[in-house]
Amino acid sequence: MDRRAFLQFLGVSGVLASMPLDLLAAKKVPFKGLPVSLEDKLSTAEGLTHKILIRWGEQINASSKFGFNNDFIAFHPLEKNRALLWINHEYVHPLFIKGINRTKENIDAERLEVGGSIIEVEKKNSDWIFVKNSPYNRRVDALTEIPFAWEGGILNSKTAIGTLAGCAGGKTPWGTFLSCEENYDMFYGERDRQGNVTPSWLGWDKVYQLPPEHYGWVVEIEPKTGKAKKLVSLGRCAHECAAVTKSKSGKIVAYTGDDTNDEHLYKFISDSNDSLERGKLYVASLEKGEWISLDINDQPILKKNFKDQTNVQIYAREAAKLVGATPLDRPEDIEFDPLTGNVLVSLTNNKKKNNFYGSVMKIVEKDNDPGSLKFTHSTFIAGGPETGFACPDNLVFDPKGNLWFTSDVSGDNINKGPYSGFGNNSLFVFLRSGSKAGEVIRVANAPADAEFTGPCFSPDYKTLFLSVQHPGELSMSLDKLTSNWPDGGIPKPSVITLQGPLLDQIVQGKL
Ligand code: FEO
Ligand code: CA
Ligand code: CA
Repeated sequence: MDRRAFLQFLGVSGVLASMPLDLLAAKKVPFKGLPVSLEDKLSTAEGLTHKILIRWGEQINASSKFGFNNDFIAFHPLEKNRALLWINHEYVHPLFIKGINRTKENIDAERLEVGGSIIEVEKKNSDWIFVKNSPYNRRVDALTEIPFAWEGGILNSKTAIGTLAGCAGGKTPWGTFLSCEENYDMFYGERDRQGNVTPSWLGWDKVYQLPPEHYGWVVEIEPKTGKAKKLVSLGRCAHECAAVTKSKSGKIVAYTGDDTNDEHLYKFISDSNDSLERGKLYVASLEKGEWISLDINDQPILKKNFKDQTNVQIYAREAAKLVGATPLDRPEDIEFDPLTGNVLVSLTNNKKKNNFYGSVMKIVEKDNDPGSLKFTHSTFIAGGPETGFACPDNLVFDPKGNLWFTSDVSGDNINKGPYSGFGNNSLFVFLRSGSKAGEVIRVANAPADAEFTGPCFSPDYKTLFLSVQHPGELSMSLDKLTSNWPDGGIPKPSVITLQGPLLDQIVQGKL
């Protein structure tokens, strides 16, 4: 924050205004807890302000618009105060696009709303602004032809038509974005190994019969060109995210969770230092504390049940079960603890097992080496009435090791049953430094039915980019909207920026 803004925030002038800045900076903003909210409003704790960066439907260039239900955000710095953001557009709410009837016309409109956007942003004074008509602005959508990075392709096709269901994601050390196709079956349905088809609930498969096996992959995208490829190497499932790091020997390692009740946590160890295309996929057994190989040449049971490694990759979930993977309570986002190097995994909930509040699990790799095949695990922090949050989902650390996380109570459960008293979904911080170390504080509340997703810091940690996803998703008709956020009228998923002295103090460990 600059001096003027700091003084304005303190509301001081005169004598105080002439004090040296470091003396002023020593004055703390007392944290006033943010109460739970059931309002259709985006509220923030005192000392934190938000601005809308871009809304659903805004023109990003002459031919494309910003898509629906923005989720994961990744930041790619350019020169000076400029950057590119990758933003996932996970899925659609047909009511808000062209209508609920499953006509070709309506579905064609919806196919342009998913995938992702690359937009340029620029820092002006202290604000990040969307740069309309930047030559870098582009859409990737359900029509974009994307090659499989896998010899032979998938089902004899070298390319897939489009990407969709992009939930969270990741970034690689070489600067590309990763977008993870999560609940892909809602678009073109699912087909099992015996050929049985389950129709999708969005009904796109009524008009377009595209192979379900072409979705459920991690997609890698070049920031400046938008060139994309589907990484078959990481297996196929409801990928929430892909968190990338390096082993002690320098090999690329990616962790990815399958966000479904009783599904698994995977780890891919690359053969190389600069690619995710070739290597070995493993799955976690918590009981054994081992990463178990999913390589058909390592596992006789896979050799017996699958015709080749491609088949194992396509049906990674079945392969994982055959080798004894541990069922988990919806493994979602994954981040690396900057203080310890440990791997933290959100386990959002598992209502079938009466786990309503979820937790964040800590994985400690043997010798602290992501390349290790042994680990221990424990609960890092658990949701519930005592900690005041439920259903942790997206995670991001600041350099002091404070864990910022969003909650994901589904819209129809908000403040009901076990979630009574938890209010709307929120942004929380688990503090590990400063006078409140060990506490979880609520710092922002989402509008009605919405969930915050995609938290992403600017490199100077002065701004947190955040998605506001699916406001008003329980609306049954345009006459009975459950949210009018942010502008009145039809609710619009949007990306916001959060800034302010509260954020500054937390990331500096001075709250
Ligand atoms: Fe799209 Fe698991 O959240
Ligand atoms: Ca999520
Ligand atoms: Ca994250």
